[in-house]
Amino acid sequence: MLTREEKIQSLKDAQVVAVIRKIDPDKVIPLVSALVAGGVTGIEITLDSQNALKLIKESKERFGQEAFVGAGTVLSVEEAKEALEAGADFIVSPILNKEVVDHVKETSSLVVPGVYTPTEMWQAMQWGADMVKIFPITTLGPKFIKDVKGPLSHIPLMTTGGIDLSNIAEYVKAGVHAVGVGGSLMDKVLIQNNDWDGLTQLAKRFKEAVQG
Ligand code: 3PG
Repeated sequence: MLTREEKIQSLKDAQVVAVIRKIDPDKVIPLVSALVAGGVTGIEITLDSQNALKLIKESKERFGQEAFVGAGTVLSVEEAKEALEAGADFIVSPILNKEVVDHVKETSSLVVPGVYTPTEMWQAMQWGADMVKIFPITTLGPKFIKDVKGPLSHIPLMTTGGIDLSNIAEYVKAGVHAVGVGGSLMDKVLIQNNDWDGLTQLAKRFKEAVQG
């Protein structure tokens, strides 16, 4: 069993977190397998996806050794509880809900609430967040990260929303620890064609991009 600090490190080591939102449920397990084979070991299945809880559980069972599997778009304590029961290693949200932070921090899983301002980042950490997710990031840009890292360098940051191969490296260079990537990694054509090798190659390109 990993300690909380080791889990935070696992999330930082993953660097790229694949955001799996509303993908055909029959495709999710082969998709996760392809992503993990390409080195993308952060897996976030959003709760607004069909069969999300079942898929979190199955992904944990199958890939839990190599991957860090979490639940995304967690808006309430009830949802957080269900995701934790399904085995989620981490709980991510686009918003900052104190009740969710309070609940998850009492468990062995990580909580990564959504924030947008320096005050919200600080507040989330005061309440016990393990990392904060700045969302949506592309309206702020990498310069915002650099500026925030000055006074708030101790806060572990995740960023999500509008990240692709052309900009991911800039965010990592600016000081982000984990980057959530949705649409640009969930390539519709590759998924539709069950081109899992193509997905693995795409995952590798994202990993290469963050590793410089
Ligand atoms: C989402 O809301 O699904 C995530 O923030 C991912 O966003 P993206 O598809 O713009 O990467």
